[in-house]
Amino acid sequence: MVNVALIGCTGSIGRQTAEVVRRHPTEFRFSALVAGSDGAGLAAMQREFSPALALLARDCAGREGELFADCDVALIATGGFAGLSYTLAAVRAGKKVALANKESLVCGGELVLREAARTGAEIVPVDSEHSALFQALSFRRDTPFKTLILTASGGPFYHCSREELARMTAQDALKHPTWNMGAKITIDSATLLNKGYEVIEAHHLYGAPYERISAVVHPESIVHSLVEFEDGTQMAQLAYPDMRLPIQLALTYPRRLPCLPSLRLTEVRALHFLPMREADFPCFTLAVEAGRAGGTLPAVLNGAGEVAVQAFLAGSISFPAIAETMKDALERIPRAAADSFEAVAEADRAGRAAANSYIYGK
Ligand SMILES: NC(=O)c1ccc[n+]([C@@H]2O[C@H](COP(=O)([O-])OP(=O)(O)OC[C@H]3O[C@@H](n4cnc5c(N)ncnc54)[C@H](OP(=O)(O)O)[C@@H]3O)[C@@H](O)[C@H]2O)c1
Repeated sequence: MVNVALIGCTGSIGRQTAEVVRRHPTEFRFSALVAGSDGAGLAAMQREFSPALALLARDCAGREGELFADCDVALIATGGFAGLSYTLAAVRAGKKVALANKESLVCGGELVLREAARTGAEIVPVDSEHSALFQALSFRRDTPFKTLILTASGGPFYHCSREELARMTAQDALKHPTWNMGAKITIDSATLLNKGYEVIEAHHLYGAPYERISAVVHPESIVHSLVEFEDGTQMAQLAYPDMRLPIQLALTYPRRLPCLPSLRLTEVRALHFLPMREADFPCFTLAVEAGRAGGTLPAVLNGAGEVAVQAFLAGSISFPAIAETMKDALERIPRAAADSFEAVAEADRAGRAAANSYIYGK
């Protein structure tokens, strides 16, 4: 029986994790559930799963030790920068951490890895692309490889001209072609920021230099990523696009349990691969450049991005202004060492302040 502490239980990943646990009641149980502010959603899950601990975020302060005390796996499915403090707490407790919250590695990758090396905590990817890479690497981080190739659906706007992009609204951006996700990551998929974040995640998770990580658009979202080896072989992982698979695998690997129906290649028929349109979707390059620069710059970028996406969702700024806001923050705020949670949190605050000033003049 695997005891799971699930942080962000009422969100898209959280609800799909509950489905995995529901399907395999003899394999998994929840030791702790944490939601942001959805008290009714949390109460319903508490009734169904009877965890020892069920908390709203505002009641968590000072109780991080308790949250992870009885779990075998901490699944961090909170959205945004808020995930980093939970990830650090779970890593410091030496737990196996199933990481959906990509912002933890984007903002605090150096810190999280340093702490994991100290405590022996293991970080297992939940993101479908990094799960695919992990599988293609035979679940071993020391498997030698040449390049990591991330696939991207391209989001809903891949075929739009620059003029069309400038007119796109939040409603248009929330219609993702292949995945059903929370609002922030859906907008980040439309700007391709999400793919830039995944490059940073892959860098931290697999120790890959940035020049050995690339991305390719694959609109069907059937090939979830590929690893290329020295001899030119590429190993890919294929499955229907369904987050329950990487969530479940993060809890059980290297063991596999039934999850999805067989992929029918004769029904899929064609798989397409197209180049990233980096010049028209500048968020991708901004993220990769911030990742390469390292230190606190990815946290600055993310803080500004969280404010910009909220403003776009509220109809206050245009789609291209998301990237402009993030670029402005990166230009204004100097890089510092990301050697403590406080340093990273300060960068997050600075990024948010820069974005608020750029968008609202305050
Ligand atoms: N959705 C996907 O398919 C997918 C795929 C790959 C990676 N990810 C990553 O997984 C993370 C979650 O994504 P999502 O789509 O599931 O987001 P989401 O639907 O917005 O859910 C976010 C969850 O976090 C909770 N939360 C918010 N603030 C919190 C806090 N301070 N402390 C604890 N919990 C808090 C929310 O609670 P309330 O409901 O109460 O607000 C909700 O349960 C993101 O980092 C995303 O990039 C998602």
